[in-house]
Amino acid sequence: MVKRYAVILAAGQGTRMKSKLYKVLHPVCGKPMVQHVVDQVLQLGLEKVITVVGFGAEQVQSQIGDKSEFALQEKQLGTAHAVMQASPYLKDREGVTLVVCGDTPLITAETMKALLEHHLSTRAKATILTAIAENPTGYGRIIRNGDGHVEKIVEHKDATEKERMIKEINTGTYCFDNKALFEALTNVSNDNAQGEYYLTDVIEILKTKGEIVSAYQAPSFEETIGINDRLALSQAEKIMRRRINYSHMMNGVTIIDPEHTYISPEAEIGRDTVIYPGTVIEGKTIIGDDCIIGPHSEIKNCVIGSGTTIRHSVAHDSNIGHHVTIGPFAHIRPSSAIGDEVRIGNFVEIKKSTFGKGSKASHLSYIGDAEVGEDVNLGCGSITVNYDGKHKYLTKIEDGAFIGCNANLIAPVTIGKGAYVAAGSTITEDVPGNALSIARARQVNKENYVDRLNIKKNS
Ligand code: UD1
Ligand code: CA
Repeated sequence: MVKRYAVILAAGQGTRMKSKLYKVLHPVCGKPMVQHVVDQVLQLGLEKVITVVGFGAEQVQSQIGDKSEFALQEKQLGTAHAVMQASPYLKDREGVTLVVCGDTPLITAETMKALLEHHLSTRAKATILTAIAENPTGYGRIIRNGDGHVEKIVEHKDATEKERMIKEINTGTYCFDNKALFEALTNVSNDNAQGEYYLTDVIEILKTKGEIVSAYQAPSFEETIGINDRLALSQAEKIMRRRINYSHMMNGVTIIDPEHTYISPEAEIGRDTVIYPGTVIEGKTIIGDDCIIGPHSEIKNCVIGSGTTIRHSVAHDSNIGHHVTIGPFAHIRPSSAIGDEVRIGNFVEIKKSTFGKGSKASHLSYIGDAEVGEDVNLGCGSITVNYDGKHKYLTKIEDGAFIGCNANLIAPVTIGKGAYVAAGSTITEDVPGNALSIARARQVNKENYVDRLNIKKNS
């Protein structure tokens, strides 16, 4: 079998983004665009994947990790120069090389596979992935001769008025015979509008040598858009969002309004779960079957069981069980583990705490650094006082305990099994199991106090 390699171009700064963040690291649906490209390329099972890095090399490398090898392009002299940086890895190898830009995040493994197959089925030395663009501004144009064969690619900036009318564009993805590619690259000059070494010139060079150059048209232009500015970024985001939401709907998830539901490409969602508008599901979140999520909830890196409802709430980096009810307006902060059948009500904040099965904090509470057992009832306004300004301390509330409204539990402290804490108490010492603890000033009623006050005033 023919050996297959890939070169991913990701060294550019992305001047047109006008950003501190290097272009290929800008996220699309929460995942950096270059990572989208790498993930799709990796599905092809190639012999070698080399990513060319330059601007933000360290960040780009640490984003991609060890799934790719890296070539450094110190100066960004153009796309041909970028590919040349991979020559120490590839130059003398027999085989086929796929070249993809790190700023085309919507390209799919299927299309790249089809391009590779098309390339191998012809005797071409190069095959360009092209697309028909309604508005081709900014893209390189495919120039074909009278017989319809590809002659060359002309960059938008170098194109004549007539060439600019052409709607067939270069998507920036290509297949090359590896040896022919590296040979042709040595002949590329920078005599053009941008003073850059264009990879696209390789096409004309091969053609002049009498080699066969072929083109393969992508199923849709949408899939091939290149992100050069924030406008294109928002378009890519929209297309990716539709794609992700479509696949969840096909898998049995109800999305009430897919245009206003934002789901990360890494998320998994079970059947018959209903997602309401304004919901943002980020990172590696796994949601079970029959859940109701949203409206207006933000969930990041959480594992959520089945039959759980989360309305108008935020949950990050936490585990949430089955048949849990959260919200409206609750905040589950990282490292929390919420057991099955728990109820977390409005204006409750939970941080780094565990909740056993069936426990409830229904209104206006802060529970931080706490271990809450099963069937515990935390009354309205109950609070763990976990921080003394320097250190954080643990609060333990054992099974079946009942914490009255507006109680302060000053950590470190343990409330024993089945114990009661009276409303308004400030608990500073452990409460034994089954005890009732009252820690508040006794009420004093001063009879006729107001009358006495009035007599004094009038005398
Ligand atoms: C390029 C193509 C154009 C095509 C378009 C598709 C060239 C000359 N032009 O134009 O025909 O229609 O893509 O989206 O190839 N890069 C480097 N090093 C460099 C320059 C660029 O690594 O020195 C990387 C960039 O990070 C980017 C990719 O190559 O990921 C494409 O570069 P960009 O400047 O965006 O090229 P376009 O002008 O979009
Ligand atoms: Ca581009």
